[in-house]
Amino acid sequence: MAAAVSRETATNSFWSAFDAMDTPPIDPKAPLVIRGREFPPAGELQQHMFASCTMVEKLAKKYFESPPSFVIDLGCGNGANSLPMHLSGAKVHGIDSSILQIAPYALATYPPEARKDMLTLTAGDITTMPSYGKDADLVLAVDVLPYIQPSTMKSTMEKIHAALKDGGLLIGTLFIDLDGTPQREMLEGLGAHFYSGGATFVTAFLSNAGFEPKAIEERDEGGYRFEAVKLTA
Ligand SMILES: C[S@@+](CC[C@H](N)C(=O)[O-])C[C@H]1O[C@@H](n2cnc3c(N)ncnc32)[C@H](O)[C@@H]1O
Repeated sequence: MAAAVSRETATNSFWSAFDAMDTPPIDPKAPLVIRGREFPPAGELQQHMFASCTMVEKLAKKYFESPPSFVIDLGCGNGANSLPMHLSGAKVHGIDSSILQIAPYALATYPPEARKDMLTLTAGDITTMPSYGKDADLVLAVDVLPYIQPSTMKSTMEKIHAALKDGGLLIGTLFIDLDGTPQREMLEGLGAHFYSGGATFVTAFLSNAGFEPKAIEERDEGGYRFEAVKLTA
């Protein structure tokens, strides 16, 4: 009992640190200036960058041909990581706050009528919606967790945990460190959050959210990718 209480206290203190990490939201109309160079307004550039997200995530790719039955894709964008799973027979529920990102995904499914019940796309903000669904075998959160405010991370991870079956998988990414680089300046200007502490932080993040890491890897483009299994109490 004492051990259980102290674990809970440690978990609470891990997440309460996130509240202090919030940064002011970006002004979508303000031009972005990186090292003296002026770019288009942050909101415009962010939408452009999101729309061009077609990067296949290595840890997701291994499920493209033999996907698990039910996949929830958070910040699905235009479906770079769950469209191939859908086309291989998985039921997919994609959620994205931007209808502009979802529209091309909806058009890309084939044949649309036959697969209607196998793909649902919802426009919504993962930080404010009450739930993402349930009984998923796999939740994807590729390049979306960096774009939510740190104070919303605990509740987001709780909703991910609740959406998964026991033993279900989470594949995601976080932006970590990259201090002082132009890449970090640009992504922060577009509303991304960077955490510190490298792979140690990612391990603590996953275990405090009720997951056991299966893989944690540094990405060439910066930050970390992870695959983790849902643990139940
Ligand atoms: C960098 S893109 C990644 C898209 C996709 N996951 C991929 O890997 O190709 C980030 C996506 O997350 C979406 N997004 C950002 N914040 C979100 C939020 N709070 N709720 C839902 N979607 C969000 C954006 O609209 C965008 O489509």
